[in-house]
Amino acid sequence: MTQILVIDDDIASCRMLEMHFGRQDYKVHLAHSVEEGLALGNNISPDVIILDIRMPGQSGLEGLPQFKQLYKNSRVIMITAFHDMETTIQAMQNGADDYIHKPIDIDELDEAVTRALVRNSNIDNEMDMSSAELGITSSNTMVGHSKAMREIYKTIGLVADSPATVLITGESGTGKELVARAIHNASHNPDGPFVAINCAALVETLLESDMFGHEKGAFTGAVTRQPGKFAMANDGTIFLDEIGELSATMQAKLLRVLQEKEFLPVGAKLPLKTNARVIAATNVDLGAAVEDGVFREDLFYRLQVINIHIPPLRERAEDIPSLVQTLLSRVNKEMNSNVHRLSIDVLGLIQNYSWPGNVRELENTLMKIVALCPDEVITVDLLPKKIRDLALQNSNTSEASSLKDPLELSLQDVEKEHVLRILKATNWHKGKTCEILGVSRPRLRRLISQYHLDPDSQYIEQDD
Ligand SMILES: Nc1ncnc2c1ncn2[C@@H]1O[C@H](COP(=O)(O)OP(=O)(O)OP(=O)(O)O)[C@@H](O)[C@H]1O
Ligand SMILES: [Mg+2]
Repeated sequence: MTQILVIDDDIASCRMLEMHFGRQDYKVHLAHSVEEGLALGNNISPDVIILDIRMPGQSGLEGLPQFKQLYKNSRVIMITAFHDMETTIQAMQNGADDYIHKPIDIDELDEAVTRALVRNSNIDNEMDMSSAELGITSSNTMVGHSKAMREIYKTIGLVADSPATVLITGESGTGKELVARAIHNASHNPDGPFVAINCAALVETLLESDMFGHEKGAFTGAVTRQPGKFAMANDGTIFLDEIGELSATMQAKLLRVLQEKEFLPVGAKLPLKTNARVIAATNVDLGAAVEDGVFREDLFYRLQVINIHIPPLRERAEDIPSLVQTLLSRVNKEMNSNVHRLSIDVLGLIQNYSWPGNVRELENTLMKIVALCPDEVITVDLLPKKIRDLALQNSNTSEASSLKDPLELSLQDVEKEHVLRILKATNWHKGKTCEILGVSRPRLRRLISQYHLDPDSQYIEQDD
């Protein structure tokens, strides 16, 4: 019989899980602290441990290595009310198998348990997830807790310590470089060099000497010997941005580096060794480029040993509020300003815009707005015309009260609109909606019926 150990100081939550898993014929053990869970010791052999992070006494994160030690064959799913990148990465690095947020979405938990049990059944294929020190700096912190972003944080935690090449894909401005830095910062040598090189920025000959270095006299103007970026990135990470732009010659040279772990500086007779970890990024479809014959298939497969795809911002509108908050404080710091509030209709419009330039466009837009903002509040009139026009286009078909004069709005109008906005942003995912709104499921159900909300409710539609 499958055994599940639930460790959570929240008694109600334990009961709920006990009933839920009991109905599925799992044997459920309960503990309310790390110490209690460990004390169960050899009397049980759980297949899956569901471990809360925040508990009195030792936290779940602190207890995790001990559980992994004591229950060697168990899979651990962490549960937490936090949703920041650091905790996720740290949990994954300390050996957690999965990570779920409170309030618990039972479908999501079921999926995680199934995944854990499947993984248990083919344990030989598992990756080494040994623990490592974290080296994350807050300026590189990524925000967003959409499902896609949470998966990305998990993957970063899993792959940071391995030397495997990673290919990061995603539209321009989605945060590819940030992900590359997060991998580096969570690696075993975060203090080592992180060297970025833009493969599209230089003509082929310059790119070659930039990447691999050159000997004195290798070409006109090469008055001294120069080490290249691969040499500089030794014991660290080399980030090859816009890898899709590499010429055929450079593709062949890079393939050799990946295969042989060595490269030839321009004009040199002997190759040099490199142990730099290679992370590449592209906003073009490399698979299609391979089919079109402009990108080598063998190089493509070498690069994407691990692929991290960052979806465009329009597909994860629920990340927008936290991004706005983070980017706004970054912009304020840079511009020495203090614009910290935005009216609710502004957030609605920002969430409904399609952001073709993704997070970078959002950041630039906020910068312009802050520069123009006369006081601390961002109002609709400060938004760029293309975002404001969205509201006008939709005003005929929309019930959205955001388009009315705010002075005419009742509190209920605002509540209805905001609930609907978040439901839309999460694709009517009730668990996520509760999390964002900070309400319980029954409360959300009441709000939905009170305002007669349904997925076809008229609202400002995305314009793309
Ligand atoms: N999840 C996130 N949290 C916080 N900031 C983010 C996030 N994603 C992107 N950013 C910010 O958005 C900007 C663009 O990110 P980044 O340069 O990593 O994107 P990119 O995908 O490499 O873009 P490009 O394809 O244009 O090179 C940066 O200022 C970055 O800090
Ligand atoms: Mg970039």
